[in-house]
Amino acid sequence: MNTPAPLTLWQHAHLATMDGATPYGWQPDGALLTQGDTLRWVGALAELPAALRPRIGHEISLGGRLVTPGLIDAHTHLVYAGDRALEFEQRLQGASYEQIARAGGGIRSTVAATRAADEQRLLALALGRARQLLAEGVTTLEIKSGYGLDAATEARCLRVARGVGQALGITVRTTSLGAHALPPEFDGRPDDYIAAVAAWLPAQAADGLVDAVDAFCDTIGFTPEQTRRVFDAAQALGLPVKLHAEQLSNQEGAALAAGYGALSCDHIEHLSDRGIAAMAGAGTVAMLLPTAFYFLRDTRLPPVQALRQAGVPMAVASDHNPGSSPGLSLLLAMNMACTLFRLTPEEALAGTTVHAARALGLQATHGRLAAGCRADFVAWNLNHPAELAYWFGQRPAQRVVAGGRTVHLAGEAGTTGATGTTCTTDTDAHPPETAP
Ligand code: NIG
Ligand code: FE
Repeated sequence: MNTPAPLTLWQHAHLATMDGATPYGWQPDGALLTQGDTLRWVGALAELPAALRPRIGHEISLGGRLVTPGLIDAHTHLVYAGDRALEFEQRLQGASYEQIARAGGGIRSTVAATRAADEQRLLALALGRARQLLAEGVTTLEIKSGYGLDAATEARCLRVARGVGQALGITVRTTSLGAHALPPEFDGRPDDYIAAVAAWLPAQAADGLVDAVDAFCDTIGFTPEQTRRVFDAAQALGLPVKLHAEQLSNQEGAALAAGYGALSCDHIEHLSDRGIAAMAGAGTVAMLLPTAFYFLRDTRLPPVQALRQAGVPMAVASDHNPGSSPGLSLLLAMNMACTLFRLTPEEALAGTTVHAARALGLQATHGRLAAGCRADFVAWNLNHPAELAYWFGQRPAQRVVAGGRTVHLAGEAGTTGATGTTCTTDTDAHPPETAP
C-alpha cells in the first residue's frame, strides 16, 4: 500500500481566504496544510483535526503575517520586444493613441520588433517581466500573443508564454490574440487576415499552445463581424473566448462576446447597458484595466456601479504591454482600481484572486485558500488586507508560495524571484488591530 505524501503545516498566519461569507474570508490565527501542490486543509490552527497531526512532516512559521491567495494577473501581453517610449512622448505632445496606430505605429511597431527577436531573446525578456510580477505575489498569469501577427511568430510567442510557466513554477494561461491588429502585409485586406488568424488556430491548439482566444474589437482593431469569425473558429475547437471590448468606442462587442459565453470582456470603458445585461446573463467577468486607462489619459470611466448592481464579477489586471500599460505592478493596478474606478479594497483583492480565477476558467482551483485548491499563497509584511490596495510602489510580499513551493522570499537570493527586494513597511507583523 502506498503511504500518502507527508503534509506541510504553514502556521502563525492571519488568513484572508477570499472564501466564505465573511469580509475577505477572514480567519485570524489560521493555518494551512499542503500536500505537494495542493491545499489539503485551511482553518483556525486550534481546530486542526487531531487525525491529521501525525501526518505532518514539516512545519513552517509564517511569522504571524497576513496571508492571501496568490495573486492572479489575468490580462497581460508579456511577450514582446522593443519599447514605445517615443510614442509616449508623441502622445504627451498631443497625438492620440488612435492617430499613432493609424499612422502605422502603435501595435505595429511592437510587431516589427517582436518579429526580429528570436525565441531565446523573447523568453529572456518575458521572464524578466514575469519575475517582477512574481516578486509582488503573482502566482498565476495570463499571457497573450498578438505581437507576431504571422503564424510562425504567434506560435513562437505562445511557446515563450508556456516557457515562462515552466521556468518559474507558476500557472500560466495562454491566449491567442492574432486578431490584435492588421499586419502591414495584409493592408487593405482585413477579411483575408481574419481568415488567416482562424486558420492558425487548429495547429496552435493541436500543439497545446492555447487556452483561450481573444480579439481587439474596436475602431483601430476589428469589426464585430470579423470578431465573430474568430470566435466561430475558437468555438469549433472548443476553446473559450474573451474580448478587448469597448476600450475606445462602443461596438457592442461585449454583448457579442457574452453570446459566446466569453470568460471576460476587458477594458469596457464604453460598455453599454445592453453589454452589461448580456455579461450578467452569461456569467462573463468584467476585466478592469485601470493602468491602461491612466496611461492613455482616458477620461471615460467603466460603468462600475452598474456592473456591481447587475452582479457582474469584476477582475483587475495589469494589462502589461509596451503601448498602453508598461507597468509591472498588480498592486498598483489594485490601487488605481480603487482611486480611479472606485472599487473598494476588498473588491480590488477579489479582482486579483477569486474573480480573476473565474476570468481564466480556474475558479475551482485558484484564487481562494480552501481545501482542494492549488497551494498558491503569499505572506505579506502587512497587517490588514485593505493595505494591499493602499500602499503603492512597495514590495510587501515576504514569501510567495506556488504549488506548495516557495518561489520568492524577500531579501533572499536563490529563489525564483530575481529582484530580492526588501520591503519598507513594518516587518514585525502582528495581528490586525481590527478584524476586517
Ligand atoms: O490591452 N487594446 C489593445 N491592446 C492592448 C494595447 C496594445 C498596444 O498598444 O501595444 C491593450 O491596451
Ligand atoms: Fe490588453
